[in-house]
Amino acid sequence: MTASINTSSAALAERLETNRKYSAVDFQDWLMQRLAVRPGADVLDVGCGTGAQTLAFLSAVGPRGSVSALDLSPESIATVRTRAGAAPNLQGEVADMMDVAEVVARRFRVKRFDLAQSTYALYYATRPVGVLDAMRRVLKPGGRIAVCTPNNPHGLIEFIRRFTEVPAANDANGRFGPDVLEPYFRRHFFVVDIALLCNVQRVPTVDEVMRFWRNTSYYDSAVADRVATAVEDEISRRGGFFYEKNSYLIVGSVPRPDANEEA
Ligand SMILES: C[S@@+](CC[C@H](N)C(=O)[O-])C[C@H]1O[C@@H](n2cnc3c(N)ncnc32)[C@H](O)[C@@H]1O
Repeated sequence: MTASINTSSAALAERLETNRKYSAVDFQDWLMQRLAVRPGADVLDVGCGTGAQTLAFLSAVGPRGSVSALDLSPESIATVRTRAGAAPNLQGEVADMMDVAEVVARRFRVKRFDLAQSTYALYYATRPVGVLDAMRRVLKPGGRIAVCTPNNPHGLIEFIRRFTEVPAANDANGRFGPDVLEPYFRRHFFVVDIALLCNVQRVPTVDEVMRFWRNTSYYDSAVADRVATAVEDEISRRGGFFYEKNSYLIVGSVPRPDANEEA
């Protein structure tokens, strides 16, 4: 299931900016509305990137709450810290999410969370279920886990597939919600909420489509000229390059007793 990733902080920032500018629905607003984080909450952000969710959590929790964020990329953590200013209730750590239990135990000041969440990151873990187990075990009573991931079909991937092979990992990422998360959440929570966002991107220029694609793990320079010509054709026929971009959010609350932990 593990996919290669472009962990570059600059590439992530550029992809997020294109998504923000050209989406029919603002993804971050959609996500935050569903997560409904309250003032005073303690939030764990796994695979926080450049802080798209971290900063929104910080403003939602206010001065009485906290956000503990981790990411593999030192540049991304530096960006989060800069963007958050001197917020004393933010702690950002460079770490592999596979080590989240140890990072909470030894490095984060806050040890228990009202919400442990990961957006567009968990499927990069070598063993996502191990990360979920660790996230589950650091919840306060009444706490929730939330994971958001891409969901198939992805319009740009389908378009690119007409020209070249797309790495199998990208298809697996788009099935991660139904194939991996849903069975896990059903096994461990009495209450499981799933929300789907069926978004559409309308990108107005060839350059922006190409730049976005170049920042993904399914870029293939060998077919770039042919793809650019086809994108140009779409834009002149339809007034923009349109593609479907789906997201899957799953939230678990009210934990089931864990047979292994009770034994
Ligand atoms: C697509 S970005 C999402 C970032 C952020 N949550 C957002 O939605 O903007 C995926 C992030 O996962 C991080 N990542 C990938 N593998 C990781 C790992 N094993 N441990 C921690 N972070 C990882 C990358 O560095 C990257 O910042």
